[in-house]
Amino acid sequence: MPLDRLFVERDFFTEAEQLRSVYDEFFSKPAEEGRSPYIWRYHNIPGFTTVMLTPADEFFPPDLYARFADRLLSYGRRKLGLNVLSEPYLSFYIPGMRLELHNDVNNGSWGFVYSLTTSWGKSLAGGETLIVNDDYWLSGGSLHVKGGIATDIPPIFNQLLVFDDRVMHAVRPVQNRSTDAREARVAIHGHLRDGGHFVEGALSLEQVDETLERSFPLLNEQIADFADVDGLFSIRLTVAASGRGEKVERLLDTVRRVAPDASDPSALTGLIESFVHRLEFPRAEGSSEVTIPFPISFDHE
Ligand SMILES: [Fe+2]
Repeated sequence: MPLDRLFVERDFFTEAEQLRSVYDEFFSKPAEEGRSPYIWRYHNIPGFTTVMLTPADEFFPPDLYARFADRLLSYGRRKLGLNVLSEPYLSFYIPGMRLELHNDVNNGSWGFVYSLTTSWGKSLAGGETLIVNDDYWLSGGSLHVKGGIATDIPPIFNQLLVFDDRVMHAVRPVQNRSTDAREARVAIHGHLRDGGHFVEGALSLEQVDETLERSFPLLNEQIADFADVDGLFSIRLTVAASGRGEKVERLLDTVRRVAPDASDPSALTGLIESFVHRLEFPRAEGSSEVTIPFPISFDHE
């Protein structure tokens, strides 16, 4: 089964040019005409990373940033079932700056890199986000892997990259001669995280809370014997006005074996899916969509 490991969305935000203009103006205007020039943080862990950072939500005008965050969160909710935006930073890399291979192990979390780079393919080479192809290990040794050891995602303007935080990733060194921040690799990045279930439609969140709180102890009993599987399983249930589940859609399944004698991940996700499909909610004025992310983390028993 192919692994959901990364997604790339081009032309992501309709106001990308406006975001970029704010960045360009910051470096174009003399300090006394704009805001303080001293907002950038030099983040340096020798041998690992060197980058300039500032909190994205403080850098951009509040209304513009709020529309970007809305766009990102609505994408996170629809595509991944994740509804929390965490640690959004604006960063730039000029020559000599780097981010070496690492992962960010937070189950139920996906990294995002939204590129505001305009120089890539012109004055800038490098700066790609590198995602390691570790499909063999994540598949529990059952997948025949072809291709290189990593996938490079170039920093194309107005492109969103989201990826499983458990997978090793890095930023390739930028290759140009300019120390002008406007020629740099520029991105807003951070994490989309599991904030629990959410609902759209006729049912209220309180009604959904009540149904899930009543039902999930039984589900937890049924899956208690699974061992050594880890990942995120997000599903969306369409609920009819009658309260019955009509359709289940799998949004994301990154649940994998983490030991050779682990339980079968597909048996686990299948069990959760059929349990959710059979849930009964209160009758409502119309239909609803209930999205439930399940961060799965079963230790060795
Ligand atoms: Fe990272």
